[in-house]
Amino acid sequence: MPLLEVQNISFGYGHHTPFEVQAVKDISFAIEKGECVAVIGHTGSGKSTLMQMLNGLLKPESGQVLLNGENIYQNKKTAAKARFQVGLCFQYPEYQLFAETCAEDIAFGPKNMGLSPEEIRKRVLLASEIVGLPADKLDVSPFDLSGGQKRRCAIAGVIAMQPEILILDEPTAGLDPAGREEILSMIGRYRKDRGATVLIVTHSMETAAAIADRILVMNGGRLVLSGSPEEIFSESEALLEMGLDIPSFARIILALRSRGVELPSAYTLKDAARVLSDGLRGGGRL
Ligand SMILES: Nc1ncnc2c1ncn2[C@@H]1O[C@H](COP(=O)(O)OP(=O)(O)OP(=O)(O)O)[C@@H](O)[C@H]1O
Ligand SMILES: [Mg+2]
Repeated sequence: MPLLEVQNISFGYGHHTPFEVQAVKDISFAIEKGECVAVIGHTGSGKSTLMQMLNGLLKPESGQVLLNGENIYQNKKTAAKARFQVGLCFQYPEYQLFAETCAEDIAFGPKNMGLSPEEIRKRVLLASEIVGLPADKLDVSPFDLSGGQKRRCAIAGVIAMQPEILILDEPTAGLDPAGREEILSMIGRYRKDRGATVLIVTHSMETAAAIADRILVMNGGRLVLSGSPEEIFSESEALLEMGLDIPSFARIILALRSRGVELPSAYTLKDAARVLSDGLRGGGRL
């Protein structure tokens, strides 16, 4: 049984108004324990709406969300429980930091779970260690942190609930390249060390390829492609039509491979540089 199974879910906003929009249309997919899945799609394709339906926040208008085989929207209690089991870190989560200190902010979720003060303290320390938030920042106001640190603090608040699935909605949006790299390697470590199940929403193909086992592509509220980074990247024309693009270095590698040049796949800049320089050194095949 998959850890999470989404069956034919749909959701629309503003029904019976001129602003009616069908944000998610009949989407189905499943996620196995330990998988890292990236959800990619153009602005407004329904990614955030979909994520909110996975953790008990937004009830689908039709279809079901099954966690460990159980419908999370069975009743109010199961929906409330799903908020702890499926931890969702919102897009621009730093806007939701509110407490006087980072420690209090990170403790918010665990407190709502009704855990003991000792357990809460333990979880706050562990979560801040996982995200790489220095211990001396715990007593500081979250508003005094840098952009990257704020993001880590917000992610720590979700990790502290020790959810079965961690969902990160655009965790690197608005950060500079160094901040982006730090957040991505933190997520990679979290996965590797804990065998965690992670769902990550991103606009960036390169981010998706760098981190995910599988990529889901959304377009106009529908799930239009699902596959390994290699499978998704080989659909470059379909992606271009949806306003998505694969990085040019990945395109070069695909073009060389399609002309019979033997190269391993590479969908991140670092890997592509390595593959191409190895290719150039290796007997002049390039
Ligand atoms: N609270 C809301 N009220 C009305 N319409 C909404 C609301 N939230 C989203 N929408 C609309 O639903 C559609 C899907 O939006 P959603 O935020 O899920 O997309 P997204 O893929 O996350 O976009 P982005 O990449 O910009 O974050 C869009 O047309 C958006 O305008
Ligand atoms: Mg969004």
